[in-house]
Amino acid sequence: MGRVAELAGVSVRTLHHYDEIGLLEPSTRTAAGHRAYSPGDVERLREVLAYRRLGFGLREIADLVDDPTTDAVAHLCRLRGLLMDQRDRAAAMVTAIDRELEARAMGIRTTPEEQLKVFGAQLYDAIGSAYPATRRTEPRIAARIWDALGDARTVLNVGAGTGSYEPPDRDVTAVEPSAVMRAQRPVGAAPCVAAAAESLPFEDQSFDAAMAVSTVHHWPDPVAGLREMQRVSRRVVVFTYDADDTGWRQRFWLTRDYLPEFADLLIGWPSLADLTRAIGGRAEPVLVPWDCADGFFEAHWRRPEAYLDEHVRRAVSVWTRVGPQAEQRAVSTLREDLSSGRWAERNRDLIALDTAELGLRLLVA
Ligand SMILES: C[S@@+](CC[C@H](N)C(=O)[O-])C[C@H]1O[C@@H](n2cnc3c(N)ncnc32)[C@H](O)[C@@H]1O
Repeated sequence: MGRVAELAGVSVRTLHHYDEIGLLEPSTRTAAGHRAYSPGDVERLREVLAYRRLGFGLREIADLVDDPTTDAVAHLCRLRGLLMDQRDRAAAMVTAIDRELEARAMGIRTTPEEQLKVFGAQLYDAIGSAYPATRRTEPRIAARIWDALGDARTVLNVGAGTGSYEPPDRDVTAVEPSAVMRAQRPVGAAPCVAAAAESLPFEDQSFDAAMAVSTVHHWPDPVAGLREMQRVSRRVVVFTYDADDTGWRQRFWLTRDYLPEFADLLIGWPSLADLTRAIGGRAEPVLVPWDCADGFFEAHWRRPEAYLDEHVRRAVSVWTRVGPQAEQRAVSTLREDLSSGRWAERNRDLIALDTAELGLRLLVA
């Protein structure tokens, strides 16, 4: 252990701590019977230390290194992406500081907005590392999206995240502004461009179709983003939420009985009619299957215990956006109601349903 600690530049105490919390347990024994690190353990230590240096918490790191779908090469690719991004951000900060020093030397004061701009982290750069734990392609929803893409051969996926719902049999180009999300795209995923929907770096009509899944509500200007999608492609397919009808909030027990703060997130959000009008398309309902594989906000409508799981919540931005107070209150009230039987009593009808209409929509133009 001492030798490994020395080589890795960490204290033996740190290694003991990793061992105690189950993050890195030496898996072999020396001839003298002491516990020792195998080459596989050393590989894991390298990953742990690299994620640590990038600022990830130990719990997050445990989730990342325990993920059975990510092998050593995938970790190296992800780490490389995150480190390159950190380097780019450091370079951007140096440039911003140089600019301010220059301005000050000339007696010019920068505005507060200019001073803060460089620190403005995007939501998904802050929460994105928790995303892959529960967010993945739900095949029944994917089938609807792929069907709506028609015979499109080239497809642009805007707000692509980690690549869920990208059709495997077409030529896909992804667009994703968050470096953390880009770095988590699996090895072999479609090429991904760092850009935002509102300003797509492509010529008019470059793609047969453009798709956007569970992302439009994050865009600062959804209507402008949808128009951009239409400018660069011949067909637009968007999976989103109908925010106009307060009925959905009432129908979904989670927002009705536990998290009314969800309503505040929709303030200023364009109506479904505005979104549809922006692309001149139609909106079709998408029912949520009771065993939905993609852990989006509504996914666990018939599996209420799931919302007690921190991993489930951390992969859904709603929980971060309502703030820790509302989240804790909602979760503890739900926990009480599940154990007292109150939830079951109030939501008796759900047990008989296999799908639920919770306001999710597919816009096609
Ligand atoms: C809930 S995730 C969805 C990711 C993926 N489409 C999926 O279905 O798993 C939302 C994504 O939208 C991205 N996003 C946020 N603002 C955006 C913008 N202005 N343009 C494009 N994407 C944006 C976020 O970085 C994040 O990856």
